[in-house]
Amino acid sequence: MSDRLFIFDTTLRDGEQVPGCQLNTVEKIQVAKQLEALGVDVIEAGFPVSSPGDFNSVIEISKAVTWPTICALTRAVQKDIDVAADALKYAKHKRIHTGIGTSDPHIKYKFNSTREEIIERAVAAVKYARKYVDDVEFYAEDAGRTENEYLARVVEAVIKAGATVVNIPDTTGYCLPDEYGAKIKYLMEHVDGIDKAIISTHCHNDLGMATANTINGVLNGARQVEVTINGIGERAGNTSLEEVAMILRCHKDIHIDTNINTQKIYPTSRMVSSLMNMPVQPNKAIVGRNAFAHSSGIHQDGVLKNVQTYEIINPKDVGIDDNAIVLTARSGRAALKHRLHVLGVEMTQEKLDKVYEDFLKLADKKKDITDDDILVLAGADRNVNHHIKLEYLQVTSGVGVRSVASLGLNISGEHFEAAATGNGPVDAAIKAVKQIIKRQMTLKEFTIQAISKGSDDVGKVHMQVEYDGQMYYGFGANTDIIAASVEAYIDCINKFRK
Ligand code: KIV
Ligand code: ZN
Repeated sequence: MSDRLFIFDTTLRDGEQVPGCQLNTVEKIQVAKQLEALGVDVIEAGFPVSSPGDFNSVIEISKAVTWPTICALTRAVQKDIDVAADALKYAKHKRIHTGIGTSDPHIKYKFNSTREEIIERAVAAVKYARKYVDDVEFYAEDAGRTENEYLARVVEAVIKAGATVVNIPDTTGYCLPDEYGAKIKYLMEHVDGIDKAIISTHCHNDLGMATANTINGVLNGARQVEVTINGIGERAGNTSLEEVAMILRCHKDIHIDTNINTQKIYPTSRMVSSLMNMPVQPNKAIVGRNAFAHSSGIHQDGVLKNVQTYEIINPKDVGIDDNAIVLTARSGRAALKHRLHVLGVEMTQEKLDKVYEDFLKLADKKKDITDDDILVLAGADRNVNHHIKLEYLQVTSGVGVRSVASLGLNISGEHFEAAATGNGPVDAAIKAVKQIIKRQMTLKEFTIQAISKGSDDVGKVHMQVEYDGQMYYGFGANTDIIAASVEAYIDCINKFRK
């Protein structure tokens, strides 16, 4: 008989904290519905007191999603808990996630407090949250660096106060797998009343050990794991959902089951990557472009003879369908709609008509349309509310000549033109934009995402621009890489010139 492991997805909270990955409420609802279809048990939808946007997203996700529990994060502060309870009012199943730092550095430097006072604050927060909801999760921030004996006292006190789940975060990603597993084991063996709560893992990947630590936590008694799609999250990210789900599926000997429909893993991964403008590294386990690509002759030979020689996962089990219909200029609306559906994107007929129009234009320029292209097209109207739009762009460049760019911008209905020379076509085009915008901004990061399929592929550009001491992130996608770069630059400007 297998044990059940609860999957707590924090893509929309810890994952969304990544600079440049912020989603609007409509996009968050789209991800939340996909997570529901994927089969996660809990969706951490945001930190409501942190901003009106987060508050609103928790409300809207609560209305849109039916069976997963909706969770809202708070500090161990009454105001945070009041706001979280209010944001959760429409959730069918609701949870408040409250907590406080328990490691010595947190107690001393963050709170200027004592261990005893931290226990009192933790207990008070849990009791206060229980006034609003029956399901209260407590997090002991930086538990990874908290001494086990003290941590056990905290955990015992919060369970007594009414916590139903206790989260043991390795906030800094410091622990070794054995150390983290031993921590969970210690709690399972030394905390009175541990059977009244579920112990949860929450591991960060700073040393590349998040998944190993999570699995070791589960082997030692944790029955909830906190994870994100594609492992996104601050710094090096969080434990990735797809890795944990597939480890447990491959290693039946562990006798732990989840509710994850693994065939939805790949579409969910693509959706999150596309909406958050966050590329997945090609060699990422389970969902990377090369995860199932055997390139060496010996491997190819073996796989052709029998896939079991080198493949431990059937790509179809994670939703990668090599036989998927290839979309071309001759594909109809129904084929496009079906592909969008497989990728987890549903849209109104009106939006589908618009996307189909763009699809035909793109299909005229390139032979095969990839899933990435389709996701870019589906998100293309993200720019419709921009008040600065690129109207036209003409660039001349080559070897031995200085690049020249001339372009036109539409700013809130007014038309502006400029021309500039530069050290390459992108430099020339950006200088032309700057002539019109006239603000002191500095380009800090400029990433062109690898074109994967052919020279006619859609190029994607991610940019970071610093303006007035703040960082702004922009994205552009176009078969013309210079145009994609200018679009990304304009996307940044639109964010500070709202
Ligand atoms: O990493 C962490 O400690 C967290 C908590 C707020 C749960 O994300
Ligand atoms: Zn975290």
